[in-house]
Amino acid sequence: LFSGRVDFLLSAPQLKFLPDPDVPEIAFCGRSNVGKSSLLNALTGRRAIARTSVTPGRTQELNFFEVGEPTLFRLVDMPGYGFAKAPVAVVEKWRKLVRTYLRGRQVLARNLVLVDSRHGLKDVDREMMKMLDEAAVGYRVVLTKADKIKASDLAKVVAATEAEAKKHVAAYPHIHVTSSEKGMGIDELRAAVLSDAGV
Ligand code: GTP
Ligand code: MG
Repeated sequence: LFSGRVDFLLSAPQLKFLPDPDVPEIAFCGRSNVGKSSLLNALTGRRAIARTSVTPGRTQELNFFEVGEPTLFRLVDMPGYGFAKAPVAVVEKWRKLVRTYLRGRQVLARNLVLVDSRHGLKDVDREMMKMLDEAAVGYRVVLTKADKIKASDLAKVVAATEAEAKKHVAAYPHIHVTSSEKGMGIDELRAAVLSDAGV
């Protein structure tokens, strides 16, 4: 399926620019630079459908990508959060856009919360998980850049993330370990996303 049509649809800086809610959506969120755009590219098997960047905070809007012909579902690249240098006004704008999207989007099937394997869960991630819980949106936690950390350290981060995820929500989220660079965990996550999207 992902090997078929994947197209960039539009970039929404405000909610009034959202596409019609006519197919399921899977959204990607996480701290700036965590690897959201890279994961989107890895899942779709495209080199650069989503723009990746070495500069944190590059993605500022909700970016929609359509999969399938006719469109079966959409992937949504959300703006990164927890960017230390972001002005207060930008952070507030982000929070409002994301919260309203999460609460009001009937077609939102699942969120992927990306967390850097090297850092584990941070307070901004906990805040995001709380927002998802409050909006009653189910999510998966995706540990990224697993190629950058020793296997023994990775096991510790996975255990800590699992322990905390269990405390956090009623139906605790599945934890995925991935590397967009090396392809680790990508096939399994792709299958999970397809199942979440109901295809
Ligand atoms: P913003 O849109 O700015 O919030 O960033 P993002 O979350 O979309 O991150 P992006 O995909 O642009 O990746 C940030 C940096 O991390 C880039 O330099 C990527 O090449 C690198 N990166 C992403 N995924 C991996 C991975 O699995 N392994 C390694 N080693 N590097 C990665
Ligand atoms: Mg990005």
